[in-house]
Amino acid sequence: MLVCVPDVLSKADVSDFRRIMDAAEWEDGRSTAGAQSALVKKNEQLPPNSDVARALGNRVLSALAANPSFISAAIPLHIFPPLFNRYGGGHHFGIHVDNAIRGDHLTGMRIRTDLSVTLFLCEPDEYDGGELIVEDYYGSHEVKLPAGHLVLYPATSLHMVTPVTRGQRVASFFWLQSMVRDSHARSMIYDLDNTIQVLVERLGREDPETVKLTGIYHNLIRYWAEV
Ligand code: NI
Repeated sequence: MLVCVPDVLSKADVSDFRRIMDAAEWEDGRSTAGAQSALVKKNEQLPPNSDVARALGNRVLSALAANPSFISAAIPLHIFPPLFNRYGGGHHFGIHVDNAIRGDHLTGMRIRTDLSVTLFLCEPDEYDGGELIVEDYYGSHEVKLPAGHLVLYPATSLHMVTPVTRGQRVASFFWLQSMVRDSHARSMIYDLDNTIQVLVERLGREDPETVKLTGIYHNLIRYWAEV
């Protein structure tokens, strides 16, 4: 399941991020790639342990913590410190799967990557190409979102970023371990939550069946969650 979450960062936040990132030192994107993905990766990123990356990463984490749609879709247990990349002319990232386990040297955090996230930090009209292509059982999905929006997709998916032919594609990317490991269970919980929100709008929070469904929602999380 691919989930897009709008307005995680405001346009003002995005401009501030871009101003800070433009002034920072960048390095070859292969420093965080696994053996297979290093062969097909050509982009730049902020050094993951740099003060700039950590400070901006913390701002992303705060924005995520305040976003109910993100929490509902991801049910996050641990979120890896966000990384930042950019693709200029000719840069691309060929087809690959992200590493199953990610360790962070600074915090000692080690997570199983259940979900991959791309948070777009530029508008679609700033660049040509640079689509994120995610493959699943239903085919190939092309993602290019407005600045400040993010996409969540299963980290088990083969995915790629097509070559950028004009301008720059700037993004933050990271992984997370969900409390609900099984992606089918997670999508059913997400669908249920969205349906409950619609019923709450229509019938009110006091409606007895809405209360029961809310109970079922929490009981399913209780049944499936690992914390
Ligand atoms: Ni990847």
